[in-house]
Amino acid sequence: MLIETFALERWMTRWELDVDCDIAESGILPLSLDELFGLLGKDIAAEIDREIHRMPLAYSEARGTQALRSVLAATYARADSEDILVTTGAIEANFLLFHSLVRSGDHVIAVSPAYQQLHSVPRSIGADLSLWDVRTDDGFAYDLNRLEALLRPDTRMIVLNSPHNPTGAMLSQDQLRDVVALAERSNAWILSDEAYRWLEHPGGERLPAPLHDLSERAISVGTLSKPFGLPGLRVGWFAANPEVVQAAWGLRDYVSLSPSGISDALARMVIGHRDMILARNDRIITDNLSTARAWFAEHADLVSWSEPRAGLLAMLRYNLPVDSVTLADGLARDARVMLAPGSTFGLEHHLRIGVGQRPDLFAEGLRRTAEYMRAGRF
Ligand SMILES: Cc1ncc(COP(=O)(O)O)c(C=O)c1O
Repeated sequence: MLIETFALERWMTRWELDVDCDIAESGILPLSLDELFGLLGKDIAAEIDREIHRMPLAYSEARGTQALRSVLAATYARADSEDILVTTGAIEANFLLFHSLVRSGDHVIAVSPAYQQLHSVPRSIGADLSLWDVRTDDGFAYDLNRLEALLRPDTRMIVLNSPHNPTGAMLSQDQLRDVVALAERSNAWILSDEAYRWLEHPGGERLPAPLHDLSERAISVGTLSKPFGLPGLRVGWFAANPEVVQAAWGLRDYVSLSPSGISDALARMVIGHRDMILARNDRIITDNLSTARAWFAEHADLVSWSEPRAGLLAMLRYNLPVDSVTLADGLARDARVMLAPGSTFGLEHHLRIGVGQRPDLFAEGLRRTAEYMRAGRF
C-alpha cells in the first residue's frame, strides 16, 4: 500500500518533547492512573485495581469484551453489543472501515480540512475523493448545499467529523438528519468520526446524538483519547450494523488481533462512570476559553479565530508575512511553544490551537506566542 506521509503527526513528533507549552494538542490533558482512580473514587478504584492486578495478561476477546461492548452499546439509542467493535483507537476504527467498505474507484466525499487519515486512507485505496470544504468568508461552518452538489448516484461513502478537528465547526441535529437523507439517496455509507463526542463547552451548545442513532447506514466512531484524556490506553470503537462489524473484525484479525485486556477493563469503568471524569474537563475548557478570548481581543491586529462550537480545536489566523511551517518551527524552537502549522491541513496562515491543556501552560503559551510574533524574528 502506498500512502502519503501523515504530515501533522511527523511535525508534532519533531517538537513535542522539546517545548514547554504544547498548546496544539488535540485531546484533553492526559490523566495518570492515580488521577483517574482519584476521579473514580475509592470504591470503584479499588475494584478495578484488584481486577487488573489479578487478570492474566493473555490475549483478550478479539472484538472487545462482551462487558465493554455492552457498556458502549448503551451509549447509543439503537445498538447492542453485536453492533460494537472495540479497536486500537479511533484511528484503527477508521482504517478498518475504509478498508472494509471502500474499493478502488469508489466515490467518497470527505469533510475538508480534516484529520489527514480521513483523506489519505481512502486515497491510498484508490477512491475518487471529493472534498466538502467547511471554509466560509468569516470562519468555518458546514454547508449542506455544498455537500449536495458533490453527491453522485454512485457515492459510496460520506465522511464526517463533528465536532471538527481542526476548526471546531459542528453539525446540528437538523443538519445531521439532512446528511442522512442525502446519503440515503445514493445508498451511501456515512462514516461519522465522533472522536470529540462528549466534549461540550460549559454553558455552550449541546452535542447532537451520535449518527448511528439516526440510520443503519451511519457508523459512529468513538474513542477514549480526546474526551477522557486517555490516549495511551489506545481504546476506540465503532457502532454499526453487525455486517459492518463482521467485515472490519475480519480485517482486524490481521492487524492488531485484540485490545489489551487491561485497557478494555479500564475503558469499561471509564465509560460506565464517565460523568465523574467529564466533570474535570469543564474547568480546563472554561479557563482556557476565557484566556483565549482575552488574548484574541488584546491582539486583534495580529490574530483572530472562529471560536470552536464544541470539541477542543480551532484555527488561529495570523496577519504576518510568513508561512505556517516557518512560524510554527520558530515558535517551537525559539519560544518553546507548540502550535501546529495550518499547512498540514492545507490552510496557510493558520495555526491549530487546542483548548484542552493545562490552563497555566495555555496562558503562558499564548503570552509567548504574541511576544514572538511581535518581535518579528522569523
Ligand atoms: C478526528 C480524529 N479522529 C481520530 C483520531 C485518532 O484518535 P485515537 O486513535 O487516539 O482514538 C484523532 C486524533 O487526533 C482525531 O483527531
